[in-house]
Amino acid sequence: MCAEFFNKITATVRTHEHWRSKCLNLIPSENLTSPQVRALLGSDFGHRYAWDEPWYGGQKYSIQIEKFAVEAAKQLFDAKYANVRPLSGHLSLMSVIMGLCQPNDPILISHFKNGGYPLNLQARFPLDVHYIPYQVDQYTMDVAKTRELIENASPKLVILGASIFLQPHPVKELAKTAQDAGAVLVFDGSHVLGLIAGKQFQNPFKEGAQILLGSTHKTFFGPQGGIVLVKDDMEVAEQIDLTLRPNPVLVDNYHLNRVAALALSLAELLAFGEDYAKQVLTNAKELAQVLHKNGISVTGDKWGFTSSHQVLLKTASFEEGIQMRDQLEKADIIVDAGVRLGAQEVTRRGMKQGEMQEIARLITQVLKEEEKPEKVKQAVHSLVQQFESVQYVFEN
Ligand SMILES: Cc1ncc(COP(=O)(O)O)c(C=O)c1O
Repeated sequence: MCAEFFNKITATVRTHEHWRSKCLNLIPSENLTSPQVRALLGSDFGHRYAWDEPWYGGQKYSIQIEKFAVEAAKQLFDAKYANVRPLSGHLSLMSVIMGLCQPNDPILISHFKNGGYPLNLQARFPLDVHYIPYQVDQYTMDVAKTRELIENASPKLVILGASIFLQPHPVKELAKTAQDAGAVLVFDGSHVLGLIAGKQFQNPFKEGAQILLGSTHKTFFGPQGGIVLVKDDMEVAEQIDLTLRPNPVLVDNYHLNRVAALALSLAELLAFGEDYAKQVLTNAKELAQVLHKNGISVTGDKWGFTSSHQVLLKTASFEEGIQMRDQLEKADIIVDAGVRLGAQEVTRRGMKQGEMQEIARLITQVLKEEEKPEKVKQAVHSLVQQFESVQYVFEN
């Protein structure tokens, strides 16, 4: 029985890896790490504990690794404070909410229907949640109404940033109103952190946000995890810090192999982030434009489709999104039921505009039923095969 488990588990992982190595991955929340970063995820640090108090022995190198990560993060984002301990983007958001809010405090955030992150905290940690008003256009905030809401609700936090993130959010426009109301302006950059690192998206700190947080594995091409950065208010930083150490509220062991891998991916972004992020934006735009030209309904034709890594296909219903996702998966093109397409992982493989045109052609063939998915799959495999290695990496 034990041997059976062993065989099944190892075979399933091998089969998954073999399959996904041939697929065209367009999930906007994922990316590929470099071989060097993957090696650090498998390093001895993954067996160890570290903590601030002098409790565990054997920590002399773990402490250095966390310091490298924190220093690199502060440098990359020009922040006074960085915390690399959150184990996910979600926990980085929780550390900010729990660090800065008391139960029942008012906060402002985007609703799921406008592409917001589906925050599900209220059942356990009650909050007075106000949703940011949007214009007729589902993904553009109504700045005047949001200002009014901030003045009336006096929120503790104004959280900008979203899961469907096609264009910059009005940080500059809301910064003063938030400050006058005593609110901390938070930017959830989970999706666009790598684009901010590469200086190709709005810079939330320069535009007036005090906190930048997010996942480290979407456009930010690091290990799965989270990060919190504070621009310069060390009192705010201290409150957040209390949720992450030294007496654990949200994170105890912070997974040192992840921290080592994160430190290295921060260095990669310092070195190659600008070139990578530029190409991600060019690729996403090209993909959107060609899909639109091919007659596929793409959101945002009035404002150039996208200024990020995401391309959003229009769907009549959630069920239609599921159908589109499943049809594309038959051709080994992997997307979500949004239907959001992300250009970041194919960019990290080294693909450029020509390949985006080919990807748009393959997606069109499937969605318009011009070709059987099984036939399109062959073209997908031969495209992916030409881009097997990860780019924007240090030479060993
Ligand atoms: C805007 C936003 N914030 C937070 C998260 C949570 O990030 P993670 O999956 O790293 O926990 C997500 C996840 O996709 C997200 O889209």
